[in-house]
Amino acid sequence: MEAYGGVSPEDGIAMWVADMDFRAADVLQEAVQGLLEKANYGYFASDAKAIQAAAWWMKERHGWAVDPDWMTSTLGLGHAIALLLETFTDPGDEVIIFTPVYHEFTNKTKNAGRVVHESPLVIRDGIYHMDFDALEAGLTGKEKAVLISSPHNPAGRIWTVEELQQLAAFCEKHDLLMISDEIHHDLAFPGNSYTPFMVAAPEAAHRTIVLTAASKTFNIAGARNAAVTIPEAEKRKKFRHALLVHQTQPNLLGVELTAAAYTPRGAEWVDELVPYIAGNAQVFNDGVAQIPGVVPMPMQSTYLAWVDFANTGLSMEDVLRRVHEDARLVPSVGGFGTGGETFLRFNIGTRRANVEEAVSRLQDAFSDLQ
Ligand SMILES: Cc1ncc(COP(=O)(O)O)c(C=O)c1O
Repeated sequence: MEAYGGVSPEDGIAMWVADMDFRAADVLQEAVQGLLEKANYGYFASDAKAIQAAAWWMKERHGWAVDPDWMTSTLGLGHAIALLLETFTDPGDEVIIFTPVYHEFTNKTKNAGRVVHESPLVIRDGIYHMDFDALEAGLTGKEKAVLISSPHNPAGRIWTVEELQQLAAFCEKHDLLMISDEIHHDLAFPGNSYTPFMVAAPEAAHRTIVLTAASKTFNIAGARNAAVTIPEAEKRKKFRHALLVHQTQPNLLGVELTAAAYTPRGAEWVDELVPYIAGNAQVFNDGVAQIPGVVPMPMQSTYLAWVDFANTGLSMEDVLRRVHEDARLVPSVGGFGTGGETFLRFNIGTRRANVEEAVSRLQDAFSDLQ
């Protein structure tokens, strides 16, 4: 293994890429075993198993009675976002994103030759809120789509039904395509409840596209499978045609793992996982909050902790040097857009002992602060 961010793999703790350190659920291991036993990895075209399972899961776990015919498989969400932008917007069109947000929203938009229209989130009561007044005031008329992370990466803010409805009304008023990336949907901490966009604002179905996957929940991002739900028939047809043009067929491993994950046994695994992550979040946020000037954002879901170093009085260069060289931690740095400049994102989807060690190293690395 190589050093990353100057931190040696010997005693460094990797806290950046958004997947977890846990062993795969037994139900997934058995699915892979089943594939091994069949010993046939030839052409494969049907994603029906994964789609049926995903529709079952959405209804069972999230109260969203989605028609499986509305769903189409892609090779992950990144793939879906790139293809959606290419299919439903034109070069030069603006895509509204609420920053700071998952860096790939910006990258995908720019890679496609579209223009990022940032709408910075505002912090109220410690957590992020969309600022619809500022967004409305800053419209250029070139906006074509809105892309949200729901729940939000980083920090796992769960948008309320009212907020999602407000967003739906905003899209209606300005004739915008609404793309809701709900990849973190299963990771709401106890006491918090995520609502699918289509449950909150069914009236916006004709302009909405929802992205889901089992990948974050079950740590199977490497199997590249996601579902794109498009309720409106014409848009769905257009998207499927785009997939055809690109010769994109479902991935055998992704379909098998998704179908195995979205089952009652998968649900049991998630029910054990989520309280553990919530416990990690508490340990991590309580621990780093003891460092003078360091402000962790309260988390409502996910394993992506979000920590503000603005009030430490240190430059970000100094903060990073301490985090890399002294604490030997590798968080995600930069790329989240406006409002994220003084934050680092720490992945806490790991053993509790790792989280405790990371906290203790951070406390040591900043022990001179008063
Ligand atoms: C909001 C969001 N969307 C998409 C992805 C990536 O999805 P995929 O691996 O399917 O491309 C991530 C990964 O962190 C994410 O946080």
